[in-house]
Amino acid sequence: MGKTVILEHPLIQHKISLLRDERTGTRDFRILVEEIAMLMGFEALRDLPTELVEVKTPITTAMVPMLSGKKLAVVPILRAGLGMVDGILKLVPSAKVGHIGLYRDEVTHEPHEYYCKLPGGIEDRLVILCDPMLATGGSAVQAVDFIKEKGCNNIKFMCIIAAPEGLKALRAAHPDIDIYCGCLDSHLNEDAYIVPGLGDAGDRIFGTK
Ligand code: PRP
Ligand code: URA
Repeated sequence: MGKTVILEHPLIQHKISLLRDERTGTRDFRILVEEIAMLMGFEALRDLPTELVEVKTPITTAMVPMLSGKKLAVVPILRAGLGMVDGILKLVPSAKVGHIGLYRDEVTHEPHEYYCKLPGGIEDRLVILCDPMLATGGSAVQAVDFIKEKGCNNIKFMCIIAAPEGLKALRAAHPDIDIYCGCLDSHLNEDAYIVPGLGDAGDRIFGTK
């Protein structure tokens, strides 16, 4: 059974509250999404394996911990997940990046796939799948299905805001993955938007409407 972690750090909560504010413009929204992704990544990557490596300091030689070469891939769900990539890459600059393009049908709320490309050797990597919003869960479930079909079973999903409905659906479909949420909101409205949420994450990151 994978972990479900709701991050309760005050810095993350504060930044998410700024994101929710409808007066927050595109530039600040983008900066905040990147910062939150970095703070969440710090928590999500706390179990990365390390190994002892010999290093000569100016004082002596010592065995010190270094990341033990675990291969990572950051995979955003397009479009809004793109906003989280640079924050995670600040922590693990050598990670490879894949892309999964999905959009929700406005009427049925079902996800539709339009582009998918993952780095080579995905079956041996830890995948950090990211999307700011987990609403019905349809997009995240389909993205994890796709990554598993390609042979990878080591997946952590990171979202900034989750609805209980989406968390339940993702957990039911993929009991094995770790799920990290910045905040668990109240519910979905009749248009399957998260309440109170922050509106349409893609539109707010890219300034579209
Ligand atoms: C948003 C969001 C998620 C999805 C969540 O993307 O970024 O991918 O909705 O909803 P779900 O949990 O009900 O599937 P959207 O489909 O609006 O596409 P966009 O990022 O291109 O705007
Ligand atoms: N996608 C968003 O961008 N926001 C929501 O509240 C739900 C889905």
